[in-house]
Amino acid sequence: MRKCYEIAVIAGDGIGKEVIPEGVRTLETAGRRHDIEFRWVEFDWSCERFLKTGRMMPEDGLDQLRRFDGIYLGAVGHPTVQDHVSLWGLLIPIRRGFRQYINLRPVRLLQGMESPLKGRAAGEIDFYVVRENNEGEYSSVGGRVYEGTDLEMAVQQAIFTRQGCDRVMRYAFELSQRRGCHVTSATKSNGIIHSMPYWDERFAAMAKKYPGVRTDQFHIDILTAHFVRHPDWFDVVVASNLFGDILSDLGPAIVGSIGIAPGANINPEKEYPSMFEPVHGSAPDIAGRGIANPIGQIWSGAMMLDHLGESAAAKAVEHAIETVLAAGEPRTPDLGGKATTSDLGRAIEAALT
Ligand SMILES: NC(=O)c1ccc[n+]([C@@H]2O[C@H](COP(=O)([O-])OP(=O)(O)OC[C@H]3O[C@@H](n4cnc5c(N)ncnc54)[C@H](O)[C@@H]3O)[C@@H](O)[C@H]2O)c1
Repeated sequence: MRKCYEIAVIAGDGIGKEVIPEGVRTLETAGRRHDIEFRWVEFDWSCERFLKTGRMMPEDGLDQLRRFDGIYLGAVGHPTVQDHVSLWGLLIPIRRGFRQYINLRPVRLLQGMESPLKGRAAGEIDFYVVRENNEGEYSSVGGRVYEGTDLEMAVQQAIFTRQGCDRVMRYAFELSQRRGCHVTSATKSNGIIHSMPYWDERFAAMAKKYPGVRTDQFHIDILTAHFVRHPDWFDVVVASNLFGDILSDLGPAIVGSIGIAPGANINPEKEYPSMFEPVHGSAPDIAGRGIANPIGQIWSGAMMLDHLGESAAAKAVEHAIETVLAAGEPRTPDLGGKATTSDLGRAIEAALT
């Protein structure tokens, strides 16, 4: 039976509005080939909307999104709006309200992509960063006292709950069991002496439940160095919100352009819609020129298909991306070419089998 999915589309700002149409069109084509129908409902929630109305999204925004099977997001961010407004006004409420406690980012060196790391070939770098997406260092607990005086101070609390640590670690172990059975934990228990030893303790407890999975852990400082020097060491890397945020930008950087990197904010229980978005932001420096790389957006769409249980369609989209990259053209300027966003999007669409 033909399945139909209702997807909320939030293109956002800048290049978000340029790459989303490529993603939607490619998924439509993949859907036709795999007996899947989509109903796309667009929302204009963005910094542009904030500038007009004072809100990134309406007060009942989450209620409006709840009924959807998935949320397909471009990027938000505008030079005249402070970044914490767009983050805390839209992305964080969705990630937290819908318990999207997994931020999943694949780091894979695809054929046709050149790594900035010397001598790395396609297939040699292939791992996932599993970032805790709901708590940790990104908390709203804290404040300022004695503002405007010489005693002024700011306090920011990090929150590490047993439930929050365990569920992200469990996800990482389960994921690794479908891959190379190896999980690496990002820590900093030498310097951060309360939350990070607790993180290590929960990691050790979870590891006991998965005796077939090899584990190791590194402090975040040396781990970033290992990402560069030994990216082939990793299979699944699990990290707190802040460390995961950093690692999941470094990851895409070692496999080529940030423009190709996909991401997913997942509620594994599927009680709420999950949200799929490229790693990159709204790129104001190139917005409006039609030269943004649409691959991160399209690949995020493949992750959405996979999450919906449409793994054949997801693989077909990933394969089409790889086919076009391996062919060497068309390429957008970030990949060293002269193609437009839609040249590359249409080539991927045409490569869908
Ligand atoms: N999830 C999100 O919506 C998200 C994520 C990151 C940043 N942002 C926001 O985006 C705005 C810009 O942030 P930034 O400059 O730090 O990061 P960015 O990812 O927007 O841009 C970083 C650099 O990468 C380039 N780039 C990014 N995506 C590209 C693509 N698809 N094709 C070609 N080149 C690409 C840009 O031109 C820029 O030089 C800020 O307002 C920030 O808050 C939003």
